[in-house]
Amino acid sequence: MRRSAGNDSGLPEPIPFAEVYATLPLLHPTPRSWAELAAANLPEFLADHAVCEQQVAMYALSLAGYYPDDAELVERVAALAAEEVQHFRRVVAILNQRGWPLGGRRKNPWAQSLRERIVPGRDPWTKVDRLLFGALVEARSCERFTRLLEVVEDRDVVLLLSDLGPAERRHWELFYRLAGRGIDAEALAARFLGWREFEAGLARGLGVSPAVHG
Ligand SMILES: [Fe+2]
Ligand SMILES: [Fe+2]
Repeated sequence: MRRSAGNDSGLPEPIPFAEVYATLPLLHPTPRSWAELAAANLPEFLADHAVCEQQVAMYALSLAGYYPDDAELVERVAALAAEEVQHFRRVVAILNQRGWPLGGRRKNPWAQSLRERIVPGRDPWTKVDRLLFGALVEARSCERFTRLLEVVEDRDVVLLLSDLGPAERRHWELFYRLAGRGIDAEALAARFLGWREFEAGLARGLGVSPAVHG
């Protein structure tokens, strides 16, 4: 482990990856080699990370646009989007301090493949799927941040990820809870299992670039 118990660095102790992983709905763990790659390429990781935060904020707001009559959803996703904007600002601040470039729009084949599973016009399942997609994005992000925390030494990044990992964990749980309103619990779990298996299939081919979902 990077920091020993009782360290005097002033940095938070990392939560053991296995403990966090056990709470997540993922079926394929990210290899430690991905974290080592990301830690060795922090400018690339953070540039990509900033875009992820920006895009999840926009995605959350798009849900408010799809479902304006769902007051609870609108309130929750608006709050989530505000939080993601704060995450975006924190990542941008580190990039700017160091003179590292902010990435612009880029391909995220993992997210793109997931999103293509959402079929419009088949409610209630379209709405459920939009929320389950959000749940998986948050869960995988939480997992990757926790994985990276195990190996990264950079103080600013440690502080950033120590806050963001638990936040993304709350977010996947929120998306899943919103998806399950008015849906039979077993049917929801079965639906989500399909998503989880599909995502695991994608994840098996990943872990080879320093991007958040690469
Ligand atoms: Fe975030
Ligand atoms: Fe999030």
